Amino acid sequence: MAEKKIFGITALFKDPDSIISAAKKTSLSGYTKWDVNTPYPIHGMDNAMNIKPSKLGFVTLICGLSGTTIALLLMWWTMSVDYPMVIGGKPFFSLPAFIPVTFELTVILATASTVAIMFAFFFGLPENSHPLHDTDYMKKVSRDHYGVVIEADDPKFNETVVKDFLKSLNPVSIDVIYYPEKETYPIFEPKFLGVLAATAIIVSLGTYLTLNSLMYIEPFNWMMNQDKIIPQSKSEYFADERGMRMPVEGTVARGFIPYPYLGELIPTEVLLNPSISTKAILELGERKFLTYCSPCHGDFGDGDSRLRGQFQNPPTLHSDRARNFSDGMIYHIMTNGQNIMPSYSSQVSREERWAIVNYIRVLQRAKNANEHDVEFAKNINIE
Ligand code: HEC
Repeated sequence: MAEKKIFGITALFKDPDSIISAAKKTSLSGYTKWDVNTPYPIHGMDNAMNIKPSKLGFVTLICGLSGTTIALLLMWWTMSVDYPMVIGGKPFFSLPAFIPVTFELTVILATASTVAIMFAFFFGLPENSHPLHDTDYMKKVSRDHYGVVIEADDPKFNETVVKDFLKSLNPVSIDVIYYPEKETYPIFEPKFLGVLAATAIIVSLGTYLTLNSLMYIEPFNWMMNQDKIIPQSKSEYFADERGMRMPVEGTVARGFIPYPYLGELIPTEVLLNPSISTKAILELGERKFLTYCSPCHGDFGDGDSRLRGQFQNPPTLHSDRARNFSDGMIYHIMTNGQNIMPSYSSQVSREERWAIVNYIRVLQRAKNANEHDVEFAKNINIE
């Protein structure tokens, strides 16, 4: 058997007092690479071992200060140099507003890098085991014993001298700890990796062939392959191969009534007004007239455009000509347009156009009232 390398020599004690005195003697005898392991922290151990305060605090300070600096520099550069922007009237470099970010970055850099450096530096990452792991010594000192270990790295280390020294401390037992043999894991051997790769290839190929050739389905594509025609897609079923079909001739869309007299000056047939002049209809007509017609025709249809020369003033709606229009003719002008007046069929719905016709009739009658109308109006109570 090959010579095993010594990690260190351990001594176990049964009570805290003996470990404290053992620690004192070890530190006095000039060893530098040694340590104490106890199941719980023991008061006064730092002094007994003559341990100086940890330097980790400086690491934290430096990392924290670099966090502060990075945060301030970043905000100074972005907010006052590269993209200066006035926010709430504050100066470009506004320290009070920058405090939260500065604080956060300081804290996060200080803590995160302290933890990372502690793992890497003091605990020897990426090494994830220690020769003391898995020894009887470690099992005992984590239960009911107190131990001291003098490492072979110590410049003063000499196996027999150290053994004698430890014996003089009156321990329960003394042990020599060797470095464990390097373990090799079969999963990292080329043979195993080869088997792993072959398995992966065989399983994928088998799955693909089963699904694709034996079961006649494309793998993992089931949602995409649906028996329907999606918009813009081709169809083998129709001679012209278009998936999207034109509507059957004469089809009328739901809620849409075709207007057959577009482009004509006068509708070829008499259009009958289907709406009755109820209060609600007249109010609707008034609202729509004031919105869509009054800018050109004026609030009362006098042709006094508000557009002030931007558009040619229309004729009054109180002329004999306009008063003698049938309801259908006014509806036709709104739907079709007349000369330079455009069609309003896309702004005003069919029902609203008929309501406007009724409202125009009211305007015309009001401006051209006969005696009977005047008598009638006198008797109406207008709130
Ligand atoms: C952009 C301005 C404008 C708007 C808005 C407008 N019209 Fe006209 N309208 C005109 C002009 C200009 C004429 C004259 C067209 C012509 O030369 O025959 C006219 C003509 C008419 C006539 C025929 C008058 C006649 O004696 O020949 C009627 C009726 C009419 N408009 C109704 C309406 C109704 C109802 C609305 C609202 C839906 C409306 N107009 C909105 C500009 C407008």
